[in-house]
Amino acid sequence: MMPSEMTHLVTGGAGFIAHTLIRRLLERGDSVLAIDNLSRGSLASLERFSSDPLFSFRQADCADYASLRNEVGDALGTMTLTNVWHLAANSDVPAGVEDPEIDLRDTFLTTFNVLKLMREFAVPNLHFASSSAIYGDLGDRVADEAAGPLEPISNYGAMKLASEAQIRASVESHIQRADIFRFPNVIGTPATHGVILDFVRKLKATPSRLDVLGNGTQRKPYLHVEELVDAMLYIQTVATGRYNVFNIGPKDIGVTVGFIAETVQSRMSNGANICYGAGDRGWVGDVPKFQYSTSRLQSLGWEPRMDSKTAVMRAVNEIIAEQA
Ligand SMILES: NC(=O)c1ccc[n+]([C@@H]2O[C@H](COP(=O)([O-])OP(=O)(O)OC[C@H]3O[C@@H](n4cnc5c(N)ncnc54)[C@H](O)[C@@H]3O)[C@@H](O)[C@H]2O)c1
Repeated sequence: MMPSEMTHLVTGGAGFIAHTLIRRLLERGDSVLAIDNLSRGSLASLERFSSDPLFSFRQADCADYASLRNEVGDALGTMTLTNVWHLAANSDVPAGVEDPEIDLRDTFLTTFNVLKLMREFAVPNLHFASSSAIYGDLGDRVADEAAGPLEPISNYGAMKLASEAQIRASVESHIQRADIFRFPNVIGTPATHGVILDFVRKLKATPSRLDVLGNGTQRKPYLHVEELVDAMLYIQTVATGRYNVFNIGPKDIGVTVGFIAETVQSRMSNGANICYGAGDRGWVGDVPKFQYSTSRLQSLGWEPRMDSKTAVMRAVNEIIAEQA
């Protein structure tokens, strides 16, 4: 790796969304150092980058500052980081409800340590993967970036919100700029978790029956990972503020879990019996419906090409092919 080319640190680099982000950064000709503790991501997703001289990977736990600092310091040598994309977090919301320590460590402490690292290495720019989970259950209200009070209903959402607050404070002291990206449900490959992967795996194991968590009426917006990363890079390039908060999502009101179940069933096992559970929540911390305002991002000049339905149909095909 050429010294002057090392610019981006991507935490959670072996995960689902990071895969597309890293690919796009490398395509731009930028250098990438990816960090992951491999708790949920896998090295297999990084294989395609392994021969690229602009790419390097280190295994480190971002919740352990000494480990993070040592691996990043060693990989950098005399090179300089300009951007951190902080994607490492717990992605299993129900697991974090069972054991709150998981989100304290992987969702909050990782952010705290990344900010500490940025201070030590004098890194100016942070791009943070936040979540619609910070809004909590808004009922029929549409969540725009100025919505409040923010009352997350999962430990995951609480620790994302705490991370945002810590980042905001750091902009006052040692960070030149922070972008806060509030993601909706993001879908595509390489899938590490989520409703489509869950359904595909269940139908592979038992082709005659598909069990759904909740009654299938949960309605949420879905965005394909290619479009999500497109929006992140657009904001990085076009936004000019020191602290930029953006909802990223489709323009529609989303699709139901029942629609996703039927789409997967029709592609994999047409005769399968879809067995719905009770209630309009899949798990504690799930919201029955969620509606996003993305007008701030549209005003900046970015719009998705796919609606939730198109994104789901494309991701179902991709995940079925990947799991074959
Ligand atoms: N996928 C979505 O629908 C979605 C929605 C909202 C927000 N997000 C956020 O986007 C980011 C990426 O999510 P994803 O879907 O790619 O999840 P993912 O689980 O595929 O990726 C997260 C990666 O972080 C790594 N990681 C976790 N804890 C770590 C630690 N302590 N140290 C180092 N690495 C650690 C995991 O091993 C994994 O590879 C996360 O911050 C997530 O909260 C995702």
